[in-house]
Amino acid sequence: MRDAPRSVTLVGMATPPTGQYAASWMHPEARSDWLDATYWIDTARALEVGGFDLMFLPDALAVPEDREGSFETTLETGGKGAVYLDPVVTLATVAGATSTIGLGATVSTSFAPPYLIARSLLTLDHLSGGRCAWNIVTSTTDAEARNMGGERIAPKAERYDRADRVVDEVVELMRSWEPGALLLDADGGRFADPCRVHRAARGGETTDGRGHRRAMGPLTVPRSRQDHPVLMQAGASDRGLEFAARWAEIAFIWAEDRETAAAARADLRHRAAAIGRDPDGLRVCVGVQPIAAASDEAARMLVRDLEDRLDPELTMRALARIFHADATVIDPAEPATEFLDRHRGATGAEGFERMLRRRCERERLTVGRFATLQSMTQLAPQFVGAGASIADELCEWVDSGACDGFVVTAAVHNASLLAFAEHVGPELRRRGRLRGARRPEPDHPHRETLRERLGMVPSETPGAISRVV
Ligand SMILES: Cc1cc2nc3c(=O)[nH]c(=O)nc-3n(C[C@H](O)[C@H](O)[C@H](O)COP(=O)(O)O)c2cc1C
Repeated sequence: MRDAPRSVTLVGMATPPTGQYAASWMHPEARSDWLDATYWIDTARALEVGGFDLMFLPDALAVPEDREGSFETTLETGGKGAVYLDPVVTLATVAGATSTIGLGATVSTSFAPPYLIARSLLTLDHLSGGRCAWNIVTSTTDAEARNMGGERIAPKAERYDRADRVVDEVVELMRSWEPGALLLDADGGRFADPCRVHRAARGGETTDGRGHRRAMGPLTVPRSRQDHPVLMQAGASDRGLEFAARWAEIAFIWAEDRETAAAARADLRHRAAAIGRDPDGLRVCVGVQPIAAASDEAARMLVRDLEDRLDPELTMRALARIFHADATVIDPAEPATEFLDRHRGATGAEGFERMLRRRCERERLTVGRFATLQSMTQLAPQFVGAGASIADELCEWVDSGACDGFVVTAAVHNASLLAFAEHVGPELRRRGRLRGARRPEPDHPHRETLRERLGMVPSETPGAISRVV
């Protein structure tokens, strides 16, 4: 008997039109109502019908600044990250208007008390019927630290040490109510069983040498059907990979080709196995920016049109901003690798910078061309074509062991995501590559949690958070 084809995990990254493609907000097909709930609801419903496992909202806690600490360029050009709505609040709005799609919220571990993180994410998990995922980030910039009562962002190792403690504490708090502790026994006059609601085992302990005490608990929110949200993470540094291997059930990576992705996936799976996890409980998803259309030619024309809309002066300005370079002396003819080497570490994202460097070296890009590609796709793989052509590529990546799925980013918001859902989703479903219900079934008595949809169950052991069923 032939094995069933491997399913493709699809994560849709939804943002305002200030994402990867620099001219998104000016594009005639970009929606401008992203401050309305309807934008997010329409996007989520389209992704749900198109077969996405989850919609994910990225986040950062500051408007990105240039080398002088000014936010002018970001705001004037509508640069990436100029606007982020609060992901949990936004997804709570979406929860009531959808029924099967997972809802992934980015929440940083570096600032908020674990109790507040646990409470808001577990609330979202309840409101969505167990469809919440948490994209765990540690924040990367001084600008974010300055918005959160600090001065400089802590060194990476320190941030990940804290993240380990925070996630451990958050998951424990989310489990402070045993399943069934909420009785609602009107006849017996008992609301909940206090014997089955617990304080945190290590509540009150000081764990970080700076006086932070672990919350006593219990949480004011009962246990959710899903136990706790699916954990997502995108560590790329050695310490970040160690963190991802420990906690992540979905890991995001940047990789410019199948070989690089396969090596990264093998590394993550190896690290997970080395600490006693089943590596299949860790789904590795590569960030891509597909351009889907009714035909291959129509998709190629869309790409040409996207590039034509970029203003070379603005792309150089954006590049200078991202790499904290001096925009007045930047030379478009310089080899991009030299530029990258001079500004190494400026983005705070090692894996991302490694990917950029590899591509710039392989394709011998000048700074000018690099700036264009950066403003197009951030150099992420861009699958271009009709539904069948893109589905072929996605399946090849998954079947060759390069990844388990994709973080689908949009060029034009939200049109590119909708085009993917319209053209590629049905093709993947026809090939038996998607999980989950064919159509949302609002009245179904037991709708799947996100973790069930992914074929995983929570483990009792913190740090080896799920097992595969
Ligand atoms: C697909 C993808 C999405 C990401 N989304 C966010 C995000 O929303 N917010 C954020 O602060 N970082 C985000 N990151 C960056 C990671 O959290 C992480 O900082 C980065 O991959 C560098 O890893 P390192 O911290 O181990 O060096 C994302 C990374 C990837 C690959």
